[in-house]
Amino acid sequence: MSRKTLIAPSVLASDFSRLGDEVEAVVAAGADWIHLDVMDGHFVPNITFGPPVIKAIRNRTKAFFDCHLMIAPADPYLAAFAEAGCDGLTVHAEAGPHLDRSLQTIRNLGKKAGVSLNPATPESVVEYVLDRLDLILIMTVNPGFGGQAFIPAIVDKVKRVKALIGDRPIRIEIDGGVSAETAPLVTAAGADVLVAGAAIFKGGSVEAYRQNIQAIRMAADNAAG
Ligand code: DX5
Ligand code: ZN
Repeated sequence: MSRKTLIAPSVLASDFSRLGDEVEAVVAAGADWIHLDVMDGHFVPNITFGPPVIKAIRNRTKAFFDCHLMIAPADPYLAAFAEAGCDGLTVHAEAGPHLDRSLQTIRNLGKKAGVSLNPATPESVVEYVLDRLDLILIMTVNPGFGGQAFIPAIVDKVKRVKALIGDRPIRIEIDGGVSAETAPLVTAAGADVLVAGAAIFKGGSVEAYRQNIQAIRMAADNAAG
């Protein structure tokens, strides 16, 4: 089987009382990236964790730390998240008026730069920052909570983003309601990184996580172009 799709488990669905162990378990189970959902109770109606928690789990794996910043403003905190050990920093296009500046700051910190789009945000917001981007994270739920239902209308946006990117080396990541059932819809449309929380962190063991990851990966890769 060719391995094209990267799987990024969201620790939001893990057992926070054993966060370091959960990160190790999901990497042992085949995770490619670790997705870190940072929420501020302002940009989104929920609060999670910040740089000290990320720093505390950094030594548990060498896997890419994919940090999804659901915070506004984001700019004052980018350096702290970089220093905590994040490898990629993704800001929301809706979180501030100076997306171009935010992306430059992330690259200047030596990190991969990402932008995330809420379901109602048109893909045109990335048109003039494409050359500053390593990743576009397309939300397939409204951010704030795990375990929500995938919004099918967003598949069309994935196709449009893929066309906008053209030949540029920019990854398309999907976040929200990803499962073995919904994964093929988005990889067929051009996505190559899939975040999943609820669909991966069920079963509570490395073996269960392995099966959950494998089911998503197979469905995703079979449908990928
Ligand atoms: C939602 C987060 C997602 C979420 C995904 O705001 O950005 O990463 O944890 O969870 P599931 O896969 O359960 O929809
Ligand atoms: Zn996320």
